[in-house]
Amino acid sequence: MVPRASVEKTLTLLKQRGLLNSQLKIRSENDFIQIPLSREPFAWELEMIRNDVPDVKLCESEFPERQEKTTKPADLLSDKLPSQLLASLPHAVDFVGDIAVVEMPPELEPHKLAIGDAIMKAHKRVRTVLSKSSPVNGVYRLRTFEIIGGDARTQTVHKEHGCVYHVDLAKAYFSSRLSYEHLRVASLVKENETVVDMFSGVGPFAVLTAKKHASVRVFAVDLNPNAYELLRKNVLVNRVMAKVTPILGDIRQVVNQRLAGVADRVIMNLPEKAIDYVDVACEVLKPEGGVVHYYEFVDTPEPLENARNHFAEALKRTNRRLLRITETRIVRGIAPFKFQVAVDAEIR
Ligand SMILES: C[S@@+](CC[C@H](N)C(=O)[O-])C[C@H]1O[C@@H](n2cnc3c(N)ncnc32)[C@H](O)[C@@H]1O
Repeated sequence: MVPRASVEKTLTLLKQRGLLNSQLKIRSENDFIQIPLSREPFAWELEMIRNDVPDVKLCESEFPERQEKTTKPADLLSDKLPSQLLASLPHAVDFVGDIAVVEMPPELEPHKLAIGDAIMKAHKRVRTVLSKSSPVNGVYRLRTFEIIGGDARTQTVHKEHGCVYHVDLAKAYFSSRLSYEHLRVASLVKENETVVDMFSGVGPFAVLTAKKHASVRVFAVDLNPNAYELLRKNVLVNRVMAKVTPILGDIRQVVNQRLAGVADRVIMNLPEKAIDYVDVACEVLKPEGGVVHYYEFVDTPEPLENARNHFAEALKRTNRRLLRITETRIVRGIAPFKFQVAVDAEIR
């Protein structure tokens, strides 16, 4: 149960975790809304949601069924897969435009084409199903995929918060699981700010920031030529050319050459390496300081405290001072007991 004002935020977070039960109808009770869940959330998932929606409450309730019943891939596979394997079906399917992305457990490998087919039948908008075939790695943060259903392609057009993004999942990083984080950061930007998106990918922070604010200047930097080309296209199709400047290059060099001392705010969405670029973030900020959105992958027992401490320690090696940390939040779970954490900090 959540207050009416927090419904949209809560639905985005539940969908990201595959926790929303779309077969049942949402119920409304005075100023509160009850949202049906597909399963009980893990304690850490609940904590993550409470980070953003502190008033969320778990309760038991009866929900009416939707008139048009959606078909689940598991229903379509019940006569094709041994019952013990049905339980291993991927819970979380990521949707990027008309592409569905899944992580296939090894025991389901022999059945992957049937699973791809069932996902396409259950989700009519899906034209391609990809199975992750490597972890995200390398400087460009890419993974490889195997096509297990539909058209053989990795490009699509994805809509997020009213913006349109051309993406190619094999050539430039993009994750629909960061949707809420893109919105959160873009909403914190103030009119007349200059923002440097240090690791912009195809532009979901930069483009949304420009769309949401009448008078901002955004520099969006990426080292990957494919990400840069898609970013340029996304800046054009979303008509934010006057506000966003795409730059191809290594952020350290770009800042040295043309961006030192320009920013009121920097976004450091390279969680596995952002710690090595805290000095660059300090250089890009205006002399009077500004806001840093720092990201890190943490797999230690106190993820929030650890990310805060790592950032504060890295900052001590620069000529800047930490004024205050305004927010620390778990963005998403990456693996059991491994999280992406965001630290928002004011720096002088
Ligand atoms: C995790 S992705 C983030 C993408 C984007 N912020 C988003 O939310 O979709 C990190 C991006 O940083 C880029 N990158 C890695 N090292 C870089 C560097 N030294 N300078 C600029 N970009 C870099 C990669 O090519 C990749 O596109």
